[in-house]
Amino acid sequence: MGLPLNADNACPRPQGRDASATSLQHKPNPRSFPRRAQRLDAGTMSTTFQLDTSTSRANPTPQPMRRLTVPAIRARKADGITAEPLVMLTAYTARQAQLLDAHCDLLLVGDSLGQVIYGLPSTIPVTLEMMANHGAAVVRGSYHSVVVIDMPFGSYERSPEQAFESAAFLLKATGAAAVKLEGGAAMAPTVAFLNQRGIPVMGHVGLTPQAVNVLGGYGARGRSEAEAEKIVSDAIALDQAGAFAIVIEGVVEPIAIAATRAVSCPTIGIGASAQCDGQVLVTEDMLGMFERVPRFVKRYEDIAGVIDRTVARYAEEVRARTFPGEDQTYQPKG
Ligand code: KIV
Repeated sequence: MGLPLNADNACPRPQGRDASATSLQHKPNPRSFPRRAQRLDAGTMSTTFQLDTSTSRANPTPQPMRRLTVPAIRARKADGITAEPLVMLTAYTARQAQLLDAHCDLLLVGDSLGQVIYGLPSTIPVTLEMMANHGAAVVRGSYHSVVVIDMPFGSYERSPEQAFESAAFLLKATGAAAVKLEGGAAMAPTVAFLNQRGIPVMGHVGLTPQAVNVLGGYGARGRSEAEAEKIVSDAIALDQAGAFAIVIEGVVEPIAIAATRAVSCPTIGIGASAQCDGQVLVTEDMLGMFERVPRFVKRYEDIAGVIDRTVARYAEEVRARTFPGEDQTYQPKG
């Protein structure tokens, strides 16, 4: 794809809550950026490009930046404790990434884009090419968060070698730092294989949407003793294989807590427990882009309502010929 990769991906998370704002183009969350970000010279500048956030016109401009790293994320859980929970949200586009980046530790290019962006019935039809295109956009639109890309169904399950080929393609095509794959103990050898070859892996246990045809639906997991034991042992197997973090999705709370306590790496909950080491949601769900969301989603806004009301005003003005008005109309000079 000829995209610039992150040359500078080796800076620990800025410490302290009083780090000052930087001179970067968009208004970052002052908590999230170190003072030293202002002092980067050409030698330490990342080659990742950032779009000008003040306009919808894409005009890539190189920006000095520092990005969180996978080891820094992994190190947020020390001796079983994560003092500050990890914040992760899904992102699929450059503009979305720009808006989320300063508030997050991780951006997940989730294969949920199948349903959210493409209107597909599940994540199963999602392809490596879709993930690469959206992943590249998210990397271009961010400079702070670690970008993790989902491995789509069928791209990694056959063998560790297949997984390596797919993951290497995704990282080369996008500049993302890590991949995520679904599955527990059965995937542990693949996680170790990738990790030993330079590809950080985030695991995903509990409700694994790519396995919907085996699970029979999207209901919460871990209600039976056998399921509960499997979720905890899956998490342990991934941890031992070197996963740097594990998503726990749709799992009854006591089992999510047990799995979190059983592993040394951070767990990131979605429909799991506030006791996980971090949380993730599908951004469109939490923004209120959809009227119906799973029970575990908190709708923080009603963006669908905002869009509906705004577009209704536009349509009304077009029909009444009151848009465009004087301010939006060119007249001859002089
Ligand atoms: O695809 C996705 O968005 C995910 C998260 C919901 C964890 O896997």
